[in-house]
Amino acid sequence: MQLIDGKAIADQVKKEIAQEVEQIVANGGKRPHLAVIIVGHDGGSETYVAHKVKSCEQVGFTSTRIAFETDITEETLLAEIEKLNNNDDIDGFIVQLPLPKHIDEQKVIEAIDYRKDVDGFHPINVGRTSIGLPSFVSATPMGILELLKRYNIETAGKHCVVIGRSNIVGKPVASLMMQKGYPGDATVTVCHSRTKNLKEICLQADIIIAAIGSPNFVKAEMVKEGAVVIDVGTTRVPNANTKTGFKLTGDVDFENVAPKCSYITPVPGGVGPMTICSLMKNTLLAGKKEIFK
Ligand code: GUN
Repeated sequence: MQLIDGKAIADQVKKEIAQEVEQIVANGGKRPHLAVIIVGHDGGSETYVAHKVKSCEQVGFTSTRIAFETDITEETLLAEIEKLNNNDDIDGFIVQLPLPKHIDEQKVIEAIDYRKDVDGFHPINVGRTSIGLPSFVSATPMGILELLKRYNIETAGKHCVVIGRSNIVGKPVASLMMQKGYPGDATVTVCHSRTKNLKEICLQADIIIAAIGSPNFVKAEMVKEGAVVIDVGTTRVPNANTKTGFKLTGDVDFENVAPKCSYITPVPGGVGPMTICSLMKNTLLAGKKEIFK
């Protein structure tokens, strides 16, 4: 069994991005600028946004954090998005999700100019990704593919079982894994809460991508000997023995599944660091106007 070290790969990719940024600046270009909007005080969101801002510093980007209280109106938020859409200094921006219940998330996503949508959540980017056109690919699926690439994991003709059908991970990663070329060319099955015979389907998988947000859902008896297991879960499970009072827990029962795998990602330190690193990559592409002129 080989552990897929997402932290090490993310550090390497960030170094590569930092070098490119210094090249751009040395040639008289502008540092890519990412803005992040956060609404309210969700603990997870605050941590993620702090990591995103710190990563910007590490790679040499300019970053702007824009915080609003939970009771911000949808109208005010949409007006802020419009300002960012029209601000030429901002190359890309994201609105951290989830948003408070009184705000329509989809409306917010669609208000973002797709040319600045470095989260890759806008329907134009989702659609372009799914038909293989240049696009901002959403960060978690992109991070997963980068891990498969960096570890030279074979995907052509492999049976890839995706567990979870979210717009952010399940659907886009399934679409990318079936795309022509590497890392793709896989035969993909998407399982979800209404799937029957989930265990039997998982047992046929050469690659399992678990993205259901249910701690320790994937058990050893669901995994074929030699499978590659990618764990996207990051549930905060209360734990009295940690400083924070919780333990970040994946969708895979790591302790019992790991011995059966050829490769497996840990939680934390697997997919998580790659997600932020993919956001940095998209912001670099936005700064270079490489996807949309
Ligand atoms: N919430 C959880 N993951 C993400 C993400 O990748 N982007 C945004 N904007 N919000 C999130």
